[in-house]
Amino acid sequence: MKKTFLFIGLFTAALASIKAQSTAEIPVYLDDKQPLELRVQDALKRMTLEEKTRLSYAQGKFSSPGCPRLGIPELWMSDGPHGVRAEINWNDWGYSGWTNDSCTAFPALTCLAASWNPSLAAEYGKAIGEEARYRKKDVLLGPGVNIYRTPLNGRNFEYLGEDPYLASEMCVPYIQGVQENGVAACVKHYALNNQELWRGHIDVQVSDRALYEIYLPAFKAAVQRGGAWSIMGAYNKVRGTHATHHKLLNNEILKGEWGFDGCVITDWGAAHDTYEAAMYGLDIEMGSYTNGLTSESEFGYDDYYLGKNYLKMVKEGKIPMEVVNDKAARVLRLIFRTSMNRRKPFGSMTNEAHELVAYRIATEGIVLLKNEARKKEMPLLPLSPDGYKKVLVVGDNATRNLMQGGGSSELKVKKFISPLDGLKKYFGDRIVYAQGYAAGRPMYGQEEKIPQIVTDSLRNDAVEKAAQADLVVFVGGLNKNHFQDCEGGDRLAYGLPFGQDELIEELLKVNKNLVVVIVSGNAVEMPWVKAVPSIVQSWYLGSIGGDALADVLTGKVSPSGKLPFSYPVRLEDCPAHFYGEMSYPGDSIKVEYKDDILVGYRWYDTRKIKPLFPFGYGLSYTTYKYSKPVLSSRQMKAGETLSVSVKVKNTGTVAGKETVQLYIGDEKSSLLRPQKELKGFRKILLQPGEEKDVTFTVTPEDLKFFDDSRHEWVVEPGKFKAYVSSSSSDVHNAVEFEYR
Ligand code: BGC
Repeated sequence: MKKTFLFIGLFTAALASIKAQSTAEIPVYLDDKQPLELRVQDALKRMTLEEKTRLSYAQGKFSSPGCPRLGIPELWMSDGPHGVRAEINWNDWGYSGWTNDSCTAFPALTCLAASWNPSLAAEYGKAIGEEARYRKKDVLLGPGVNIYRTPLNGRNFEYLGEDPYLASEMCVPYIQGVQENGVAACVKHYALNNQELWRGHIDVQVSDRALYEIYLPAFKAAVQRGGAWSIMGAYNKVRGTHATHHKLLNNEILKGEWGFDGCVITDWGAAHDTYEAAMYGLDIEMGSYTNGLTSESEFGYDDYYLGKNYLKMVKEGKIPMEVVNDKAARVLRLIFRTSMNRRKPFGSMTNEAHELVAYRIATEGIVLLKNEARKKEMPLLPLSPDGYKKVLVVGDNATRNLMQGGGSSELKVKKFISPLDGLKKYFGDRIVYAQGYAAGRPMYGQEEKIPQIVTDSLRNDAVEKAAQADLVVFVGGLNKNHFQDCEGGDRLAYGLPFGQDELIEELLKVNKNLVVVIVSGNAVEMPWVKAVPSIVQSWYLGSIGGDALADVLTGKVSPSGKLPFSYPVRLEDCPAHFYGEMSYPGDSIKVEYKDDILVGYRWYDTRKIKPLFPFGYGLSYTTYKYSKPVLSSRQMKAGETLSVSVKVKNTGTVAGKETVQLYIGDEKSSLLRPQKELKGFRKILLQPGEEKDVTFTVTPEDLKFFDDSRHEWVVEPGKFKAYVSSSSSDVHNAVEFEYR
């Protein structure tokens, strides 16, 4: 009897408690139906000073804590930007050895830029965001949008080329795609991280004009149009101060002028001072004092600059509470948008849909640089699979897993189709392979020395086999070793490494049917350019790259990539190098951007220096005819727009995609301006014989330059030209109009 009463009593109490719980109000910060700012303020009200400051530094190599007492979750981050990196140990840079962390490798961002296809950028972002989400990551460390200033920069392959307009158009949909998944993009490396040599301390001197016109627009677009939730501060200094805690870059421009409400996260180990970090815009500190890139030490996470010393300075009144609240609010916003977002999708990983996205970006990014017919013969490309009895594929990059190495963008992939695998699908056992040259292993901070005897025997073997083949496909270029396309160092020379130039010359002597495929994320010198009939620029193409390359080489897909940067003939022609060592790489303390606003084609056009291959250039297996462009008006006034229309026709026999480019040039201005600048582009699919209309809208914004002396964008009345082009050098027509 007693027991029954006890049971009923307990049951009633339990019911009452459940009822109380269900009717109790959900705290505002936990209620995702409430406006974001209300939730942030509510959470802040409930947090102690210690809890607020604890949000701002790491708890492990790739995570930062939330607020455990209040049930506010951690943030988990991952590289980025070409796939979701394998799991890394809690406290050092070693891989954790999980068996469920292989990803889909998407093509490098250079390849995405070369596709000139923003809708592919959206698919890229969505797919990589789904993989990040599936792997329970809250912040994906990418995309990289630093401007390509010199072909020696070891990290150009992770960026979107030399032009701020192209980089902006391509990064915005990528970011939106990632963030649709409740995963934050972390746009890097803000700002002026344009070289890897001395990246931790080199002090960039740049004019305001070059900053605003060239180096910042992609970051601005990422924040304002892409709505990026986080941004990564760079390692380098800018005008004397480390970029990651920088008053001008963070407080005045990013959070001031652009109204950024998200988090500035350090690059790993990029913070250097508590007061500066606190006051100059850093919100989350990662990677300080742990081993790997910085140095091994006994310091714990609380010893970070934004750790106990920050708390102490706040308590001493040296750092105002508004600063603490603002930082904590930014981290909370990031958490609410990502790890604490209950409405986000679940994501997915390594599926066919993602492979298809990777494949399509790869096929659209590959650039056909040259395809010349010899005498009365047809050009070598597209290759006819039945046309050859014996095909020699030469080169280390035909088989090498190029997802390995390169630094933080390294990926562990589930699937990897090499160029050799791809070509075998067409040529089967008619393919012979020779490595041709030894390319060493990826080693951090050094180059592997290869004995001469190895180099000689690989070369001899390839040349002998080439003499007996009907066709030779050379797949070489750079790789992800240190001093190649790799973080933490720049290339040592513009030419191809590992004796490839000599090898190409030797191959040519014994076989003229030579297709050269360069795999790289950078321009390379091509001393053999006149002698080689067909040249293809392939990038780091990701998991399905081999199929994409083979499909383009054989004509299943007509090439439609266009270069996202110019190829100088010689390094000295490149603007960063033209002005001598202080302009690149600097004297190890400082680098002066003497090239100023004349970066890439802006330089070659204005100074009339012929590049080896211009920005925006790429051939196809078909041909296009451009009509004369039509302007909606010859005059434009403030607040008005005008349109430029052109008809483009496919005059060849196969379908193809053409990227129509619009550049604008100011005929006369009070300050030096580039001859012309990219202001629009459109990629269109045309069947044989098909013609399409392409219309661009030109606004006064497109005519402006940044006047440092007035600190504003200015348009000066006068004559302008609209250039309709298929590259920065191949102008089909230019039409003049006047701005009044
Ligand atoms: C790189 C970043 C990267 C970070 C984390 C740094 O060395 O510069 O791009 O996201 O490491 O791996």
